[in-house]
Amino acid sequence: MKKLLISTGGGDCPGLNAVIRGIAKRAAQEKDWEVWGSFEAFNGLMEKPSRLIRLTDKNTAGIHVMGGTILGTTNKGNPLRFPEKQADGSVKTVNHIPDLVRKIKSEGFDAVINIGGDGSQEISQAMFEEGMPVVGVPKTIDNDLSSTDFTFGFQTAVQTATDSFDRLVTTANSHHRVMIMEVMGRNAGWIALYTAIAGGAEVCLIPEIPYDINKVVERIRARYDNGRGFANVVIAEGAHIQEGAVTSTQGEFGRMPVRLGGVAFTLSNQLKEAGLEAEIRETILGHTQRGGSPIAFDRVIASVFGVKAFELVLEGKFGQMVVLRNNDFSSVPISEAISSYNYVDPNSTLVKAAKGLGISFGD
Ligand code: F6P
Repeated sequence: MKKLLISTGGGDCPGLNAVIRGIAKRAAQEKDWEVWGSFEAFNGLMEKPSRLIRLTDKNTAGIHVMGGTILGTTNKGNPLRFPEKQADGSVKTVNHIPDLVRKIKSEGFDAVINIGGDGSQEISQAMFEEGMPVVGVPKTIDNDLSSTDFTFGFQTAVQTATDSFDRLVTTANSHHRVMIMEVMGRNAGWIALYTAIAGGAEVCLIPEIPYDINKVVERIRARYDNGRGFANVVIAEGAHIQEGAVTSTQGEFGRMPVRLGGVAFTLSNQLKEAGLEAEIRETILGHTQRGGSPIAFDRVIASVFGVKAFELVLEGKFGQMVVLRNNDFSSVPISEAISSYNYVDPNSTLVKAAKGLGISFGD
């Protein structure tokens, strides 16, 4: 019997369970493969005693409609740069990949499917280079992984954000207010951009286009006439003023990237300082974008990713990540997928079309 280990790492995302089910169902059609899941990324495997679960077509039945991940996840303690407190209080990062690969092999696993975003795929590549047969599956609501047209979870996050945006439009209208809605997206503004187009925003602020506050004020004022009117703004958490810093909160031990959040309030203050007379309210959507059931599109791509990932294992095509490209499913080397980041291109057709719809990016 051959053994496959599945891990879900990094921030969770709608569709993770659909990938797990896809792998388990496809593997059940082979007589010589057993599928196991490690709880909370690879932590479950490394703990003593280890926390693993056998995954079958029976115990994964129907989970594709559920949000979150039945395996749990973590975005702390990256094994590539594991933070260890030193006697003098300083923190040193240690590469635990060789230990991790040794442990996986000693537990009798022949292959790994690692479901995760750019950070997790960096781990996949390091494990592959260390001699572990690995296949990657791209996930993140941020859609910031290159080589794939979409990551699963993104469209669900956009739908959640758009539903909230629509609600903010009616109340903005009743009170003649400016509604600022903050969405996730630390380095890439994909959720903000899609939501702004879907909802019909006046202003969309994204990390890739630092904004000029006076241009934002100008666009909002144009929506008002003698105090009547209203405006809806979408801002990505990583957006910032030209030559300004991102708005962040305190970091947590073991978590490498600093936590973002609160830019809606920063923008609100900047607008008031720039002289905007209208009343402003702020909404931070936060983790509502990461939770809940995946929409049909994400269920489909996540399920297909799961089946394809297991088929790559069967074919012995390791060091590959499954992708959706030009409306077809294939795979690319993980090294290629992590070599560049999927930013919104300020000169893209999508951004130009948004501008054509009257959306200001503050540039
Ligand atoms: O990477 C996905 C993401 O949703 C980012 O957009 C966001 O900054 C981060 O996760 C939030 O992570 P946490 O769950 O640790 O607050």
